[in-house]
Parts: sequence; structure tokens; C-alpha cells
Amino acid sequence: MPETLSIIDNRTGKKYEIPVVHDTIKAMDLRQIKVADEDFGLMSYDPAFMNTASCQSRITFIDGDKGILRYRGYPIEQLAEKSNYLEVAYLLINGELPTEGAPKDWAYHITHHTLLHENTKKFMEGFHHDAHPMGMLISTVAALSTFYPEAKNIRNPETRKLQIYRLIGKMPTIAGYAYRHRMGLPYVYPDNELSYTGNFLNMMFKMTELKYKPNAVLERALDILFILHADHEQNCSANVMRSIGSSLADPFCAMAGAAAALYGPLHGGANEEVLSMLREIGTKDKVPDFIKRVKAGEGRLMGFGHRIYKNYDPRAKIIKETADQVFEVTGRSPLLDIALELERIALQDDYFVKRKLYPNVDFYSGIIYQAMGFPTDAFTVLFAIPRTAGWIAQWQEMLLDAEQKIARPRQVYLGAEKRNYVPIEKRV
Ligand code: CMC
Repeated sequence: MPETLSIIDNRTGKKYEIPVVHDTIKAMDLRQIKVADEDFGLMSYDPAFMNTASCQSRITFIDGDKGILRYRGYPIEQLAEKSNYLEVAYLLINGELPTEGAPKDWAYHITHHTLLHENTKKFMEGFHHDAHPMGMLISTVAALSTFYPEAKNIRNPETRKLQIYRLIGKMPTIAGYAYRHRMGLPYVYPDNELSYTGNFLNMMFKMTELKYKPNAVLERALDILFILHADHEQNCSANVMRSIGSSLADPFCAMAGAAAALYGPLHGGANEEVLSMLREIGTKDKVPDFIKRVKAGEGRLMGFGHRIYKNYDPRAKIIKETADQVFEVTGRSPLLDIALELERIALQDDYFVKRKLYPNVDFYSGIIYQAMGFPTDAFTVLFAIPRTAGWIAQWQEMLLDAEQKIARPRQVYLGAEKRNYVPIEKRV
């Protein structure tokens, strides 16, 4: 059976044989299809990349119909149960699980890059008291580019490695500072004796005690949430990371762009929106009325639906289990009952069933974060910290891929034909 696609152009009667590799045709192979020699050639039109692969990747595999998510081949369920965030970050970025010794080295370097230059504090102090933490995070990550100008040597593997330690190490510190700034609390320096998530909790919540001791259950729950959020193949923000990175910008600037994409309510910003939605609904008995309004097109059920998952989001399943452990420590959130009722009604409603809309990763994560004491506007920051590993893995893969060039889509121009400039007094 030939691995080709035969195309007959009915405009000319010409036949073309296009190779099919990995169930894909190369869009550039369409370019030869022309009516006249001077034509540009055929393009594919795909707003929002609904059916376009922009790269070959070996990082994350998703089968949206079967609800499968794997990092470098390892099922997300196994990683969430047995691994930890720093090990998963290593796996995503380096391709294999670390061998004995390597995790300590990896964790050591990341831990020793958690401090921020003192000028960063001054920079952050310039933000208004009620600045959104994501705005502060995005700008501060971009500002790191000015502290580490050597980061632009993106072709040097050693320089790249150093920036990777810095990015993973400093993200929780920036997040902690953003929160403390918002609350008018003194900034807390990193504690190298704590785990990655334990130290993050320390930088968020330490008060006057000499040594912050994270609750072990909450520390592990946060680690699991970080594992679940670490990568998700070619999502909106990963695509931005690759796209900015393809111009050979330094990783701090590229990641500021990726974090900005994550901020939107249709992407990572959804976890914040879910909480606002649950608060707006207020009580369980108002759920049917809310669902009615969603079906009438008056808004979306936030935390539901996914571009890729059309069966269930495996991350949502793990998060629901984690929630039970968290609530045993923090007490049950009253918002949980509203969320469960929303899920129950939506999953049997024709509107949601027909459109294959299921709870996604953001539906329950916000309720857990709220129970753990994080303010609602910090939720997307809690997504950005772990996604750093995925962004870096995607960025580095793009840089090392000989087929990649500066990302530059084509367009179908439908605007005005050539026309002559009209002086203002003659315009109608
Ligand atoms: N509530 C109500 N209706 C919805 C929803 C929803 N959450 N999501 C999709 N629909 C409807 C949509 O109106 C459309 O209906 P119709 O065919 O009648 O026009 C149909 O389902 C298909 O929607 P779409 O917008 O074409 O789907 P998409 O693949 O472009 O969008 C999505 C995916 C995640 C942006 C969307 O489902 C959504 O807006 N969900 C709410 C926001 C959210 O929870 N985002 C977090 C995503 S998971 C975290 C991450 O990785 O970013």
C-alpha cells in the first residue's frame, strides 16, 4: 500500500502524489499545486491550528478520546503517584528519569538558584498594591532577562542549562514575592532545607515563626498538582514559547510571553474563573438556573471542555482524589458541593454530552488552592510555576530541531485591492 495521498486538482485536471508520514502530509508539499506557473501555490487554511501539527515532538503524548496523558511515555497516573515535581521536570527536559545521584544534583542546582537579585525586589515594589499576581509574574520574568544578558547565547548548552536552573528555581520566589507584595507582607527568602513545594509554601505563608514547617499532606498535594500541570504538549502557551523562542529570543523573554498566554481565561486563567463562577452561583439550589443560562449562551461553564480531551481529562480525575486528602487537613470547602452538583447535572445534560464537555484540570484545582489558603488571583500563578518545566522542554526541543525556523504563518488576504491615497479634504 503506497504511503501517499493522491490529489487531483479539478481546476487543471493535474494529479499529485503527496507523501504521508506519521498520518501527516507536509503543508509545503501543497505549494506545487498551481493553476498557472506564476501562482503562489496551494496553502492550507487552519485558524486556531485545529488540524495542524507545528512540530514533531517526543515530550508529551495525549490521546484526547481515550483520556490518556503521558510524559516521555510515562502515564500521568504513575508519575502523580510515585514521582515528584522536580524529578518530572528533569524527565520532561532531559528525556529520561534521573538515575541515582542525578536527582540530587538537579535539585541542588535548582535550589541554589532560588534567590532573586535584590534589585528585583525594588522592581516589584513599583507595582500598585492591588496589581494582579500574573501581571507581576509576567513582567518580572521578562525583567530577569536584563539581569542575565548571557542568556541570549541560546546555542550554548551550558548557558542554556544555567538559565533552566534559574527559571525553575526563581519562579516560586517571584510568585511568593508577588503575593507578599499584594498583601503588604515582608518578602520571605527561600529556605534551602525545604522541598521545592515546601519552600514555595514557606515563601507564601511564613509569618513570625523562625522556621516554617509545611504541612506534609499539603506539601505533597501541591507537588501532585505541580506534576499534573507540568506539560501539555502544544497548548496555547507552549506554542507561544516555541514561537517567541524561534526568533532566538532569550528564554526569559520567551517565557514571559508564554506566561502571558497562560493568563487568559480560556487557558490557565480558567482556574480563577471557576472560583468566581462558584461564588456567583452561591448555593447548590441555584445550579440548574446557572446551567440554563450557560445553555442559552450567556456564558461558559468554566473548568469544562477541552480542545483535545473529548472523553475525560485524566488530570481532573487525579485532582479530585487529591482534593479529599487536602480537605481532611483544611476542612471541606463549601464550594465543593456546588462544583459536584454542577458536574452531576452537566454530565447528564444533552448540551454538554453532545459537545463532549467534561471537567478539565481547572475545575477542581481552584477549590483545593482556596482550601490551602491561596487567594483566588494567585491560582494562575500556581499553574505557571510548574508549567515552567514544560515550556522549557518545548523551547529546547524547538531549538535543537533542525527542521524548525522562525515561526511565521501565512495568511489569506481578503482586504482592499490596491488604491490610491486620498487627501483628507477629499475623503468621504
Ligand atoms: N461551557 C459551555 N459551552 C462550551 C464550553 C463550556 N465550558 N466549552 C465549549 N462549549 C461549547 C461551545 O459553545 C461550542 O458550542 P457550539 O458548537 O454550539 O458553538 C462547542 O462547545 C465547542 O466549543 P469550542 O469553543 O469550539 O471548543 P474549543 O476546543 O475551541 O475550546 C476551550 C476549548 C477549553 C477553550 C473551551 O471548552 C472553553 O472555553 N472552556 C472553558 C474555559 C476553560 O475551562 N479552560 C481551561 C482549559 S484546560 C486548562 C488548560 O490547559 O488551559
